[in-house]
Amino acid sequence: MPIERKVIDIEKIEEQRAICAQIFERVTADGQRPLAMVDTYGCQQNEADSEKIRGYLAEMGYGLDVIVVNTCAVREHAEMRVLGNVGALNHSKKARPGQIIAVCGCMVQQKHMAEKIKMSYPVVDLVFGPHELWRFPELLNQVMEKHKRVFAIDKAESVAEGIPLRRDGKVKAWLSIMYGCNNFCTYCIVPYVRGRERSRRPEDVLAEARQLVAEGYKDITLLGQNVNSYGKDLDCGVDFADLIRQINDIPGDFLIRFMTSHPRDATEKLFKTMAECEKCAHHIHLPVQSGSDRILKRMNRHYDRAKYLDEIATARRYMPDLVITTDIIVGFPDETEEDFADTLSLCEEVRYDAMFTFIYSKRVGTPAATMPDPYTRADKQVHFDQLMELSNRISGEKHKEYEGKTVRVLVDGETGKEEYNLSSRTNGGRLVHLHGDKSLIGQFIDVKITASNTWALYGSLEF
Ligand code: SAH
Ligand code: SF4
Ligand code: F3S
Repeated sequence: MPIERKVIDIEKIEEQRAICAQIFERVTADGQRPLAMVDTYGCQQNEADSEKIRGYLAEMGYGLDVIVVNTCAVREHAEMRVLGNVGALNHSKKARPGQIIAVCGCMVQQKHMAEKIKMSYPVVDLVFGPHELWRFPELLNQVMEKHKRVFAIDKAESVAEGIPLRRDGKVKAWLSIMYGCNNFCTYCIVPYVRGRERSRRPEDVLAEARQLVAEGYKDITLLGQNVNSYGKDLDCGVDFADLIRQINDIPGDFLIRFMTSHPRDATEKLFKTMAECEKCAHHIHLPVQSGSDRILKRMNRHYDRAKYLDEIATARRYMPDLVITTDIIVGFPDETEEDFADTLSLCEEVRYDAMFTFIYSKRVGTPAATMPDPYTRADKQVHFDQLMELSNRISGEKHKEYEGKTVRVLVDGETGKEEYNLSSRTNGGRLVHLHGDKSLIGQFIDVKITASNTWALYGSLEF
């Protein structure tokens, strides 16, 4: 069934902001203190969506007693955590009658989950999917005025500009460049809940990037489920590499990062552009998912091991210092010892700086959910532990190579610890703990790496 795609007119967003202003009037008349909060699960896209919800809430004055839970559906574990925490809000609501509980995001875009909340979680007043986020003020207002539960799960996939944003921090910013995914990897729920790929227009992305630089942000991460296919749906003559180049041309001292890149669409042009653009970080998150050609085919990933390794070699030719990270799924249906051995050997060959490993989780409605699987959770756990061990060893070895070297880092925040009170990131995104004055936050500085472990580097300003 074709799904309607809609571009939300800027006037419609203005209407939503006018509702925010009305709510603001009502709330401040009561003289309330800020109460509203947003709890976020899942990926960076969800973090970016929560910044929009906070943007709207900020315009409402934050005085509302509302809790928004922005959910993820990518693995069962994420859903169980959300349901547990939403259930526990019963206590909060009992103690504070009138409190509004809203649940949004990917999990509730699944029909069975929206139903479950309707039937079994009466504590929830408002449910809305990712395609309805742009009209959150209107939906919230309906709950407040009509005192009834509202469920808004539209299928129409929207692109909206002009939603106010409230970002966390002043150093690092997410910048969504596209929404949705067209890839339909057989294990993955994302295309079903986030819809088809929709790119924002290059001029809108550039305007936001310019604004971020003007506001002093130093680390901008371009977000999309598959940034390498940016622009394909627009026919605007600007591909992802062109977009990086245009952002790189914005005057100022800042870093450009991006995620995620699908190996299927990573091009030599992209690697060349990364190498040539001095503001582009030398880091690529290129999830391989598996090292076995048989499993990659069953996952519908559209590349094989040889193509993937070839891409890595090309990327490293352009950027010998490139930091490479990956996602891997362990225990995809019918993954044999032999398949898993292929994953281990691929990881040894690439030597990833960091690996994010997941045990396969069955997602209702995806093709992999009906594939036969003779292996138990315990079998998969053995492989998972083995892969973690390998990942930790390689990360530790790679971190050791930094010791004694001087690297440029961006100081991005405080750790709350005494000895190493500041955190920072290298150009490649590796974490470096430091001791220094907090006035360094937001600055690029040179540090000497003095120690390391599996997860982090430790640096000194004195050398
Ligand atoms: N668009 C990104 C990833 C989005 S989801 C990409 O294609 O790389 C983030 C990661 O979650 C995926 O890379 C995958 O490793 C993992 N993942 C997705 N669905 C999963 C499932 N059903 N079970 C276990 N891990 C899953
Ligand atoms: Fe999911 Fe695959 Fe799309 Fe990534 S590319 S979001 S893993 S379907
Ligand atoms: Fe989860 Fe949705 Fe992101 S399913 S991983 S929050 S796109």
